[in-house]
Amino acid sequence: MNDFQYYAPTRVVFGRNTEEQTGALVRAFGGTRALVHYGGGSAVRSGLLARVLASLERAGVSHVELGGVVPNPRLSKVREGMALCRREQVDFLLSVGGGSVIDSSKAIGYGLCCDGDVWDLYTRKATPKACMPMGCVLTIAATGSEMSDSSVITNEDGWIKRGLSSDLSRQRFAVLNPELTFTLPAWQTASGCADILSHTQERYFSSPADAEPTDSIAEGLMRSVIEMARRAVRNPTDYEARAAILWAGSLSHNGLTGCGRGSGGRAGDWACHQLEHELSGMFDVTHGAGLAALWGAWSRYVVDAAPSRFARFARNVMGIAEADDMTAALAGIAAYEDFLRGVGLPVTIGGLGISLTDELAEQLAWKCSFEGSRTIGSLRVLDRADMAEIYRRAR
Ligand code: NZQ
Ligand code: ZN
Repeated sequence: MNDFQYYAPTRVVFGRNTEEQTGALVRAFGGTRALVHYGGGSAVRSGLLARVLASLERAGVSHVELGGVVPNPRLSKVREGMALCRREQVDFLLSVGGGSVIDSSKAIGYGLCCDGDVWDLYTRKATPKACMPMGCVLTIAATGSEMSDSSVITNEDGWIKRGLSSDLSRQRFAVLNPELTFTLPAWQTASGCADILSHTQERYFSSPADAEPTDSIAEGLMRSVIEMARRAVRNPTDYEARAAILWAGSLSHNGLTGCGRGSGGRAGDWACHQLEHELSGMFDVTHGAGLAALWGAWSRYVVDAAPSRFARFARNVMGIAEADDMTAALAGIAAYEDFLRGVGLPVTIGGLGISLTDELAEQLAWKCSFEGSRTIGSLRVLDRADMAEIYRRAR
């Protein structure tokens, strides 16, 4: 086990009707005037937004609203939010929605606390020094943004999607009511589960080394999410399945499944995520579905670097009994793809409705390699040519 730091400062408030506590939580963390940030309308239609606003009123927290955050959230909305918060002298950012809304809030929070252009933080030209206090009411289990240190924003100028990680953006609280996720369409449920699984896989497959108990925690999480994803797709109002997925989403991206697997809580391979961010930046696909489309091609490309690690995944997560490591590893990859297909997800880029030409594969690799200036991955380090080859094999 390698040395690590584990820091997960978010207060999690989990269970039925917990959104009623939102106003009191904002108050408890010092908020008196909140930006209520939300997405394209699901929170309005379900009545959740009205319940949250009533709870703010009860707690004596005034508010302004900004909806319209789209999946793969945009820089222009971040700038709009910053201007609104400055005008209205907001002192707390409250997200009601999914990862896209939370990430948009995180960017607004950084932007309000920096002198320069907020996009410079996402392109590493500047380093964040502070962020506004934030909390969230989560409506979809997927990104783990409610406990993660990350945010991912798309700049429409060039359709460049970039992430920024810093503890400054940790949510003060996260309200997690599984019933709020009952209204998710099967596609979003399944995509969210693929993302949750990927956050644990990125850490699990970051090196060939074992690290107990982290590996066993990771395997248990993955087994739960696979089983509960099947249940939630079949029956959207299965409370136990929704609850398990929601909690697994937070645990998969709050650093827990990386402890001891690398340096700091930040251990991870992250190649699939880097490859996917270019895909959703360019084609606006659902992040989790993009990961599903790439995972098979990535894993077959890198499996030689750690057959025993893939074999362990195959045996302990996918129930494969093969004795030979490489045979088990390949069977495990195929079994995981079967699971993805079974919950309605694509396992190729073509399955996302994109016909990827050689030229587009090269363009994606060019962007993903930051114009040839970086490599990605740690299990096997990938350069621009490797990236292009994985995109081609994922077609
Ligand atoms: O906008 P509304 O109308 O709310 O609809 C949303 C949206 O269309 C809908 N939805 C959310 N909750 C719902 C619901 N529909 C019905 N009932 C509900 N209860 O679902 C759609 C997707 O929402 P979104 O917030 O985009 O999903 P997700 O949470 O998967 O966020 C995706 C974004 O997060 C980034 C992704 O790249 C992508 O941009 N990520 C953020 C990470 C982080 N901050 O730590 C890590 C991830 O790896 C990821 O990259
Ligand atoms: Zn993800």
